[in-house]
Amino acid sequence: MTKRKEIRLPKNGLSKDEILNKLKESSKSDVEWEHGKAFGYVYHIDDEHTNLLMEANDLFASTNAMNPMAFPTLKQCEGEVISMTADMLGGDDDVVGSMTSGGTESILMAVKTYRDRARKKKKVKDPEVVLPLSAHPAFDKAGHFLDVRIKHVPICEDYRADVEKMEEAITDNTILMVGSACDYPKGVIDPIKELAAIAEDHGIGFHVDSCLGGFMLPWLKKLDYPIPDFNFKVPGVTSMSADSHKYGFGYKGSSLVLFKDKDYQKYQFFAQTSWPGGIYATPTMTGTRPGGAIAATWAMMKFMGEEGYLKFAKQTMETTNKLMDGIKKIPELHIFGDPDMTVFTFGSEDVNVYRVADLMQTNGWVLDRLQKPRCLHCIVNPDQAAVVNDFLEELQNAVDKVKDKPRIKVDDGTAAMYGLMAKFPSRKFIKKQAINYLIKQYKL
Ligand SMILES: Cc1ncc(COP(=O)(O)O)c(C=O)c1O
Repeated sequence: MTKRKEIRLPKNGLSKDEILNKLKESSKSDVEWEHGKAFGYVYHIDDEHTNLLMEANDLFASTNAMNPMAFPTLKQCEGEVISMTADMLGGDDDVVGSMTSGGTESILMAVKTYRDRARKKKKVKDPEVVLPLSAHPAFDKAGHFLDVRIKHVPICEDYRADVEKMEEAITDNTILMVGSACDYPKGVIDPIKELAAIAEDHGIGFHVDSCLGGFMLPWLKKLDYPIPDFNFKVPGVTSMSADSHKYGFGYKGSSLVLFKDKDYQKYQFFAQTSWPGGIYATPTMTGTRPGGAIAATWAMMKFMGEEGYLKFAKQTMETTNKLMDGIKKIPELHIFGDPDMTVFTFGSEDVNVYRVADLMQTNGWVLDRLQKPRCLHCIVNPDQAAVVNDFLEELQNAVDKVKDKPRIKVDDGTAAMYGLMAKFPSRKFIKKQAINYLIKQYKL
């Protein structure tokens, strides 16, 4: 392994060929996402779509959307992406929003907006957000950065938010209630209508986290899959997040945060007016905003059109159903709950599924490990239509192998680390160990 002290900026620059060859060589150890082996992280259709993203990004790779006056093209593209997404999510002409770098930043902006709005309008000093246990940790991150208390409410047996318990958790300090459409852990939609009605009754905001489902559910609904109402058409919904870099198939580093109207959005912005460098005002967390991500996402939405999104939503849902049907036929495995879209989780009482995932990984398949209880996660892509049979066959083999060796050592402290696969010797100091693990990961 290369040692840190051996890594220095080269004295003379390398040639373009040398550099690109090094990257190509190195990428051979990465997951083969172009061949449907990644059940998450990558949202892929085919080369035609990927090339469009790359070409549109190339045109704007050096630009910066921080200054809309310098780059009116980006302002236009961002405005159009916001309008197209708002319309797709049932919003009227009053809906406003911003493009951000991803779901986490969209959620941070939402929490910041409600915090500042409640400070101003209701003089709330100790703000709280009420959300189901299944909501994405981006809300915890927002709470951590913005000094907002995050109240996790236990969920129902069907893995959806518990409406009664959510209402019970509201206090005078509650600034926001959250529901997911769909959630990451089980791919189910919370009872958005019921929750939003409660939020409205209590005079608080309601955010639908549709980072995962925002670009998939509208099309599944049009295709007559049983998708409950989840968007701006639902009374009480005041904001949404939807990730164009997930099922929007847009450029990585693109998402949207949308508000019902500008009376909410004005609390999203930041301005420092006395800086000698000039008046500094930005809509989102970052300063510089990569123009390429905005232009390429715009390009993809225009290229896909309704027809494209419908076609690939259908293909992905059909693939999901085939995968779930195949998994249900493996007696040791079961699907958790009744997933609403193209995301699901499977587990087992008979075999250790983390070992199954390890074995699958030796054949190149990447499945996220989830916890409490142990299970494996699938975010399905359109291109996986071509690999359903291979996947199911290899999964069956992996289950058989783990079953044949029941004494395989299982570490009780094994934990699932979202986005990383780590084994921790003990659950006791898991937070500290997770932080240390991250420090190690980024140090050569
Ligand atoms: C429901 C949900 N919300 C938020 C996020 C965070 O998105 P990102 O990883 O783009 O920051 C995710 C990511 O998977 C998600 O599934």
